[in-house]
Amino acid sequence: MAELLIPRSLDYRGAREKGRGQTCSQGGPSTAATVDNGRPSASDRAMEENPSAPLLIVWHSRTGASEALARAAFDGAREAGDENAARLLRAEDAGAADLETAGGYLFVCPENLGALSGEMKAMFDRTYYALLGRIEGRPYATIIAAGSAGQGAQAQLDRIVTGWRLRRVTDSLIANLGAQTPQQIMAAKTVDAVVLKQARDIGLTLGTGLNLGVF
Ligand SMILES: Cc1cc2nc3c(=O)[nH]c(=O)nc-3n(C[C@H](O)[C@H](O)[C@H](O)COP(=O)(O)O)c2cc1C
Repeated sequence: MAELLIPRSLDYRGAREKGRGQTCSQGGPSTAATVDNGRPSASDRAMEENPSAPLLIVWHSRTGASEALARAAFDGAREAGDENAARLLRAEDAGAADLETAGGYLFVCPENLGALSGEMKAMFDRTYYALLGRIEGRPYATIIAAGSAGQGAQAQLDRIVTGWRLRRVTDSLIANLGAQTPQQIMAAKTVDAVVLKQARDIGLTLGTGLNLGVF
């Protein structure tokens, strides 16, 4: 198996799981089942872009796994409340006003080089100071797509939102896609149905809590 060309200090393989949450592995990127990562229709997009939804799902994805997980969570949230229960927004498009309008958050992105993907980090860099002191106490959860680790990205995300005083309200999900070689890492991903169900359940939990006003 080819070695990853990353410095030892960033080598995530064999990293230990820490903290609250579940890590789910699947056999490998090419053998796993099934999600349609196709582009949404215009009517789907209208639902996804509902700006007054209580739950904002901010996502970034390079090879499709995080997008599939975000869409599964979106479906779960809408199952909990109504069709306006959640909004899906690319990290690249998310601004401070989008976060301020929402009542709670789900952040979904890959781990890259032991940290949040750059696009998700840029979203926090762009919005952090505009929101400081303005969204304290709001609920959040995370889903990280990873090749074989994920804990670095999750810890970094948790640390960032501690500054906003957000409250984690459900266990994290780290979806391990079993991608370790450069070829596997760069390949389009399909996410196992069991893992998609876990993402859906996180959306359901967030959607239900926000809908009932218990968070
Ligand atoms: C530049 C780069 C760096 C990566 N670094 C890590 C890493 O540090 N830890 C890890 O578990 N996976 C790492 N991966 C693998 C991705 O996290 C994994 O392929 C994930 O499924 C990508 O999510 P996406 O399909 O939503 O883009 C890396 C991938 C790329 C492209």
